[in-house]
Amino acid sequence: MDSMTFILFGATGDLAKRKIFPALYNLFLDQKMPQSFSIIGVSKRELSDEAFQIYVENSVKTFSRRLTNDRSKMKEFLRAFRYISLNVTNAQGYKKLLEMVQQREKELNIPENRVFYLSVAPEFFDVIASNIKESGLGSTKGWKRLIIEKPFGHDIKSAQDLNEKLSQAFEEEEIYRVDHYLGKPMVQNLEALKFANPVFQAIWNNQFIANVQITASETVGVEQRASYYDQAGAIRDMFQNHMLQLLMMTAMHLPKQISAKDIRNEKRKIMESLRPIQKEEVGLHVVRGQYGPGEIDGKPVVGYKEEPGIDASSTTETFVAARLWIDDENWSGVPFYIRTGKRMKEKSTRIVIEFKNPLKEWYLPKNEETAPNLLVIQINPNEGVSLQFNSKNVFNNGKMEPVHMDFATNQKEVPEAYELLIFDALHGDSTFFAHWKEVELSWKWLQPILEAFAENLLPLYSYRSGSMGPEASYQLLKEDGFYWR
Ligand code: BG6
Repeated sequence: MDSMTFILFGATGDLAKRKIFPALYNLFLDQKMPQSFSIIGVSKRELSDEAFQIYVENSVKTFSRRLTNDRSKMKEFLRAFRYISLNVTNAQGYKKLLEMVQQREKELNIPENRVFYLSVAPEFFDVIASNIKESGLGSTKGWKRLIIEKPFGHDIKSAQDLNEKLSQAFEEEEIYRVDHYLGKPMVQNLEALKFANPVFQAIWNNQFIANVQITASETVGVEQRASYYDQAGAIRDMFQNHMLQLLMMTAMHLPKQISAKDIRNEKRKIMESLRPIQKEEVGLHVVRGQYGPGEIDGKPVVGYKEEPGIDASSTTETFVAARLWIDDENWSGVPFYIRTGKRMKEKSTRIVIEFKNPLKEWYLPKNEETAPNLLVIQINPNEGVSLQFNSKNVFNNGKMEPVHMDFATNQKEVPEAYELLIFDALHGDSTFFAHWKEVELSWKWLQPILEAFAENLLPLYSYRSGSMGPEASYQLLKEDGFYWR
């Protein structure tokens, strides 16, 4: 891997502390960092290099999935870190940053390969990108890459504006848009599951699949993010990015090659085939809800409107369920159901593929029913794949009953999404990052829904905390003869 300098904007922020430093540390332990590298933390706060190194050490100790007793390893890791205090809107300050970067490149004798990681509030994305360009930081003799966190815009227009601005400083191939769901090992495993297994590949279509259900339920509420979340709601916070990425990954067709370009092309085609929902018809296919009071893990919790920082009249949705159709040869006639919400009964991200049973009528005695074959891909919190199929039970008069075949990964050894993603970005592999076209198409598809929400064209159901969302979301599937699995 090429030696490089990793410049982290937002170095004293929450994401850096919880995810980025621990990820870098684990990559370092696994010898997945380059031979020589330098990490420069950028933030407003005044800190010395030493104080910053202590800060990094503390966050690693608190949040890393593992630690080594070898003290010298930690020391070696921390030696790579430097810090600079910078007001990111002040163009002048970037000169100092450039000097520091160049000095470190000289000290370590490494080429001008630079990663700029923007772990900052979205309003600073464009100004940082433009200052990187203007200051000369972006004019390197090596390569440069921009890693950028969500949210990428809050509607189609703002996303296009942002992309326009970023593209003045970076080429599309240099931009790595993080969607941490694409870093989850089981999401990355989807392509292998579908394409490396003829048994699945052959039946991954509308001839055999009755419907697809994608769920991401959470037990947490709005937490300390009221000001952000109340503007975003579940539709922007989860649906536009994570849920549509899961849809693309599940539905995409076999690419010509397993390459970033071909995979992202196939994902784009799925978004292009997604049937638009007209604003007036949003209520027929989309259900929104907001959590009321209830119980989580046996403890009472308040409703969304009673949460600190949330206005009692807020109409922000904390739950969305939707029925989507992909109008292509492979998927026509197969509904995709998606739901996501906060303060639900359990934390679970999973994809359920429900298969048809076209042979049932031929073989089964008149009033005997069988369960459908189900393929459950469990993404979070446990990772695994489970297949439900029918088998005769000799102990029950040979009656047909559903049984399961399960595969689960060893939880302790699973790397975190951020490890996989940062590793890929350092390598220049953008397969599991969102391409601009995917982002643009998803905002475009979502736009009528955002408008229908804003204009209150559909009901906002209240659901009990600790439930699986409003009753209306069950109705959505019932209309087609299905239910949530
Ligand atoms: C984030 C959302 O992107 O994903 C949060 O902003 C949400 O609201 C989180 O809680 C869920 O991620 P995970 O990995 O816990 O499923």
